[in-house]
Amino acid sequence: MPNLAIIGAQWGDEGKGKITDYLDETADLIVRFQGGNNAGHTIKVGDRVFKLHGLPSGVVREGNLAVIGNGTVVNMEELLEEMDQVLKAGGSLDGLRISDRAHLIMNYHKKLDGAEEKYRGSKVVGTTKKGIGPAYQDKIARIGIRAGDLLDDELLKEKAEFILPYKKDLMTMLEAEPCGCECETLYNKLKGWQEKIGRYICDTSVLINEALDVGKKVLFEGAQGAMLDIDHGTYPYVTSSSTCGGGICTGAGVAPNRIEKVVGCLKAYTTRVGEGPLVTELSGEAEEILQKKGGEFGVTTGRGRRCGWLDLVVAEHASRMCGFTSLAVTKLDVLNDYEELPVCTAYRIEGKETKYFPASISKIERAEPVYKTLKGWKGWDDTAAVVKGGYDSLPSEMKDYIGFIEKHLKVPADIISIGPDRNDTIDRKKDWWK
Ligand code: GDP
Ligand code: IMO
Ligand code: MG
Repeated sequence: MPNLAIIGAQWGDEGKGKITDYLDETADLIVRFQGGNNAGHTIKVGDRVFKLHGLPSGVVREGNLAVIGNGTVVNMEELLEEMDQVLKAGGSLDGLRISDRAHLIMNYHKKLDGAEEKYRGSKVVGTTKKGIGPAYQDKIARIGIRAGDLLDDELLKEKAEFILPYKKDLMTMLEAEPCGCECETLYNKLKGWQEKIGRYICDTSVLINEALDVGKKVLFEGAQGAMLDIDHGTYPYVTSSSTCGGGICTGAGVAPNRIEKVVGCLKAYTTRVGEGPLVTELSGEAEEILQKKGGEFGVTTGRGRRCGWLDLVVAEHASRMCGFTSLAVTKLDVLNDYEELPVCTAYRIEGKETKYFPASISKIERAEPVYKTLKGWKGWDDTAAVVKGGYDSLPSEMKDYIGFIEKHLKVPADIISIGPDRNDTIDRKKDWWK
């Protein structure tokens, strides 16, 4: 039952899309298990760039099953647009499957996301305003609409009649923009989705488990990152799903003893979009340089990403929460040509050093980074030649940087990513399915 998962080790945008695309060449199923279209995963294949939000990265390759698992929230309108883009790019949707237990993001969730952010005032989270939080709120409050409901007319009618008055009261209270949704309109909209999406909906947990039973290769594609996890992240500045290892089991319907390998996707420095603490954050020109070199602008919202040095307190926390068995260290090329590279190995909080990431947001906000400064390295002109030369041909200081991370986290850096393209990748493991 070969399978592997890819999980972001920081605050998202670590390059999970690229690494998933690299590893899924030989996979049979690619599974999204949490989050929704708050994700923005970029895949570059030659001159073609795909920016995927709700669809698993596997749709880019034909022949895979691309599964949207039960732990996700799905905006059907935006998913249909994305599906259209894939078809226009010459792709196929034959392999798409959506869990009957996945929850739907409705227009009122989007409006409520905006209204809740406004209501928070100075405590704004900086969400993507895609309605993710409100959709997960409804799931937990047991008033969500699930994809499988689209296949049951009576249930749809019942739900529309029950949910809308409740939502309207809530929206009035929060002074949300009106969602223009009456029961009949909502019902007709849901019926429309039934026609367009119905054939992709099934019990994806059965599909995944049966695939594992017969030795098919399953790849679980995480969205966001460990530090945005609802339990283990920088709460309340987090997303509303379980982004860490446990999220695979609940969000795909796969038992813990079936998960084999977990690849931690670790950006060689740190970025974060939205509000919340970032202990190694840079400012001024230093931040602008890193932001520009790394092209750190959000795929989903276009917002500039906040940038800082690598934080191994964060990476160690992520590794513990996710059980990383390998690391994919990405964007190392962005650190080319720095004289020195500070790496954070501990925090100093009120004069005391700690290597553990605190739960208290006020403690994190007061934490000062303790840095070990490593030597930088000179860049190169020809990425293809470096990739061809393999790990040994990397600058020795870069290998020291990677070695330092491996030693600190006690996890091998099996993938080294030195450019956005599928081919800009050094693979030190090769046989991922054994
Ligand atoms: P994801 O959300 O984790 O899939 O990451 P995003 O796609 O939001 O952001 C990562 C960005 O970095 C994308 O523009 C990728 O094309 C790019 N990228 C990924 N790996 C590398 C790399 O090793 N080097 C460089 N320069 N860019 C990379
Ligand atoms: P990928 O999969 C980076 C952040 C938002 C905000 C917080 C809550 O591309 O790595 P939400 O809309 O989820 O309620 O917003 O989470 N966020 C991300 N940051 N990458 C992402 O996804 C993100 N998805 C959500 O910026 O701070
Ligand atoms: Mg992203």
